[in-house]
Amino acid sequence: MLPSTIAISAHGLTRKFGSLVAVNNVDLEVPTGRIYGFLGPNGSGKSTTIRMLCGLLLPSAGSATVLGKDTRKEAEALKQQIGYMTQRFSLFEDLTVKENLQFISEVYAVPRATRKTRVLELLSEFRLSDQIKQRAGTLSGGQRQRLALAAATLHKPKILLLDEPTSAVDPQSRRDFWETLFELADQGTTILVSTHYMDEAARCHSLAILDRGVKVADGTPRSLGENIDTTVIEVQAEDPNSARQSLAKEPEIFSITQLGIKLRVLIPKRIPDALQLVTANLQRASIKGVAAEVFPDLEDVFVAVTQLHTKQAA
Ligand SMILES: Nc1ncnc2c1ncn2[C@@H]1O[C@H](COP(=O)(O)OP(=O)(O)O)[C@@H](O)[C@H]1O
Ligand SMILES: [Mg+2]
Repeated sequence: MLPSTIAISAHGLTRKFGSLVAVNNVDLEVPTGRIYGFLGPNGSGKSTTIRMLCGLLLPSAGSATVLGKDTRKEAEALKQQIGYMTQRFSLFEDLTVKENLQFISEVYAVPRATRKTRVLELLSEFRLSDQIKQRAGTLSGGQRQRLALAAATLHKPKILLLDEPTSAVDPQSRRDFWETLFELADQGTTILVSTHYMDEAARCHSLAILDRGVKVADGTPRSLGENIDTTVIEVQAEDPNSARQSLAKEPEIFSITQLGIKLRVLIPKRIPDALQLVTANLQRASIKGVAAEVFPDLEDVFVAVTQLHTKQAA
């Protein structure tokens, strides 16, 4: 399915808190019916950006349009068309699963005639039928998260803005949650989801990488890997620790990460023969191992673009 339109766009979106620039001149284009990721560490501006896109927070500068509506001027109308879920979604702990959904359907002004059917539909869709009478406070992490997503989709929003929705759940629930996101996207829902998990970012159709409020890169996971100015060499050495120490002496190598027995070594593309640089270093130090150039994964991209951003900022 080709995206026919842009669901969310932002130009020069900026938010300051006193002297802190939490979101700095961010441009965005999110196609309809796609899953778009925000990847960034704590404090990089993910939540602040999402809150501006929801119309909950005013930008200090710049503008954003969601479903053709200006988030500053048409915030109220917009709220009916978007679903918002945060890591700390405030479910009513003392209400049962069903009561939570009933209450929220009133908040969203779901017509009385369809309310009951919609709640039952969601309970089954989000596999909560067995928990109907259970109080939300006693649910497992995965169940709470399903209830939170059910609540966010109650009014059938065209856009879902999900702020680190999986940070409090186990790996199996995270995987199930992503299956649900893909189903929703297949049905035409546009999903913007923030995360600090690389594996989740890799599942997005496209994503933006945020670092200290700045969008430092964006694109599909594939194009991000293709476009960084960095060669990635993977080293598998008998003694990874010595290999690491020896390679750390090369001034051109700007990052070495150990993953199990493997090292991922990042070298700027302007160095003509990165692989040769690595193998020669290991040979000189008499370290046994094999090295090969590999396609950058999102973690490599993340390290490469954020280090470059740090250097430019310095
Ligand atoms: N209401 C606020 N008042 C002051 N500073 C804030 C406020 N909200 C966020 N910040 C600051 O803005 C920066 C970005 O925060 P946030 O958007 O929450 O990042 P993330 O969601 O990526 O962790 C952080 O330095 C944070 O402390
Ligand atoms: Mg946040």
